[in-house]
Parts: sequence; C-alpha cells; structure tokens
Amino acid sequence: MDPYEVNEHEIELDETKNLEIDLLLQGIYQLSGYDFRQYMRSSIWRRIKNRMRVEKVPTVTRLLEKVIHEPAFIKVLLDDFSINVTEMFRDPHFFYSFRTKVVPLLKDLPEIRIWHAGCSTGEEVFSMAILLHEENLLEKAKIYGTDMNENILEKAKHGMFPLGKMQNYTKNYLKSGGTHSFSEYYTTDHKYAHFHSALKKNIIFFQHNLVTDRSFNEFHVIICRNVLIYFNTNLQQQVHELFYESLCPNGFLALGDKETIRFVTRADSYIEFDAAEQIYRKV
Ligand SMILES: C[S@@+](CC[C@H](N)C(=O)[O-])C[C@H]1O[C@@H](n2cnc3c(N)ncnc32)[C@H](O)[C@@H]1O
Repeated sequence: MDPYEVNEHEIELDETKNLEIDLLLQGIYQLSGYDFRQYMRSSIWRRIKNRMRVEKVPTVTRLLEKVIHEPAFIKVLLDDFSINVTEMFRDPHFFYSFRTKVVPLLKDLPEIRIWHAGCSTGEEVFSMAILLHEENLLEKAKIYGTDMNENILEKAKHGMFPLGKMQNYTKNYLKSGGTHSFSEYYTTDHKYAHFHSALKKNIIFFQHNLVTDRSFNEFHVIICRNVLIYFNTNLQQQVHELFYESLCPNGFLALGDKETIRFVTRADSYIEFDAAEQIYRKV
C-alpha cells in the first residue's frame, strides 16, 4: 500500500502552515503551470514535510524561496507531488473483471481506444496490452498512456521493469485470468525484465495533465485508477466532466478501489457496471 495514502483528518494543519502552502502552490502554478492547489491538503503536506526535512529548511516559505530563485527546484517538488506507486495487474480481480465482463462488449468494435490517465511508469498500460493480446484485440486497439510527469513517462516508454518484481507480477497476472506463461512476454538482463516490443506497437505515451489539459479524443474505455484519491472533491468533479466528455456513448470508466463516482454530480450519467471493481458505464 502506498504509505502516502493518508486520511484527510490524520494531520492537523494550522492557519499559518495552510497560508504558506497556499503561497507555495500558487508560486509553483504561476511559474510552471502545474496546478496542485486542489490536491488533498493532507497528502501535499506530507510531501512538503519530507522535502523540508531533506532540504533542512524550517518553514514552507523557505521552499517557496527556492521555487522562486532556483528554477530547477520546481521539478524536485513535481516529483515529490506525483506519487508513482504502481504495479502490473494491480488488483488482479479488477483485470479479471475487465477481461471477463468488459472485453466481450468491446469485441465487435472496429477500433478500441483506451485511455490510461495517470499511468505512472506504465505497468498498468503493459498489463492491458497483454490482456488484449490474449483476447485477440491488441491489433485493433489504441492504448493511450498519459501522466502529468514527463520523467516517469520516459521510463514508461522503455517497458522495462525491475526483475525483482516479476514474481509478484506473475502472481497478479495469473490471478487476473492470464492464459499464458507470464515470462513469455519479456526477456531479462541481470536487472530488468524487458517487455516485447510487439506489445508497445499500439501504445502511445504522452504528457497530459488532468487538471489543466483538455480532452484529446473519444474513448471506449477510460481507466484512471489511484489518481483521483489525491484530488479534493471539487477537482474530482472537474476531472469527471473531462472523462464524461471524453467517453463514447456506452463507454466504460474504471476507477481505483478506494475511489467512487457516487458522490460526484456526474454519477447520474453512469450505471454501475461492476460495483465491486469500480467499473462504470456511460448511459
Ligand atoms: C499512484 S499512481 C497510479 C498509477 C496507476 N494508475 C495505478 O493505479 O497503478 C498516480 C499517478 O497519477 C499521476 N498524476 C497525479 N496528478 C496528475 C494529473 N493532474 N494529471 C495526470 N496525472 C497525474 C502521478 O504522476 C502518478 O503517476
């Protein structure tokens, strides 16, 4: 579990700290365009505290000074704020549900467009490519993997993941309904598993910020898991508008296991397709 997934009420923030954080986030926004002003305060605060510890500065305002006077420092905070925890076939039961319930409804489409929003280092995207390959759908699929963080997208493009993680990923793959031997999909060196380039053929990775960028296509499936959990309610509403606009009629929206559409205004525009796995269908 991501150690940063904290309860909103767990950390008390006083007025001064809140003001300093407001100013820091405003500074980052004005100087870089990255907008963290509506991220969950508790989680942002946790990261700011870590950074203060590393930089050995006593106040948030000192970080703001660095943001203003040392342009490269914004990238450091951007990496701090973008939590990249992910794994292949994460929550295998979700992938099982996708394979057994959603895939049959996609089979007859001439082209299948899937958007992984907030894809981190790409493990989720490669999992989907493998699943679609096994269902004979990869050829007609276009999988868009986007994230706000360019650095991690560079990693995603390589499709190579630490060898030490393959044991766990193999277990996930099998639980998710995988039908082959997982090791068929990669070759190894002493450190990494390199996934076959045939899997990458229909994957497009590029930078997209859910807070500030617009819709860029119409999708049959949008998968945005373990991202909205870091946004406040207002920002979640905004991003759900973006997803609604970007989904085809009858398209599927999948969220993470701690996320729900129930409390957003757009909830009425969806049916719960698989409530246990947070898979919704646009009506
Ligand atoms: C915890 S990871 C989730 C990865 C993957 N979806 C999964 O469930 O395993 C969250 C990702 O969301 C990305 N993210 C955070 N804010 C974002 C935004 N405004 N726009 C796009 N991606 C964002 C982060 O950079 C990070 O890579």
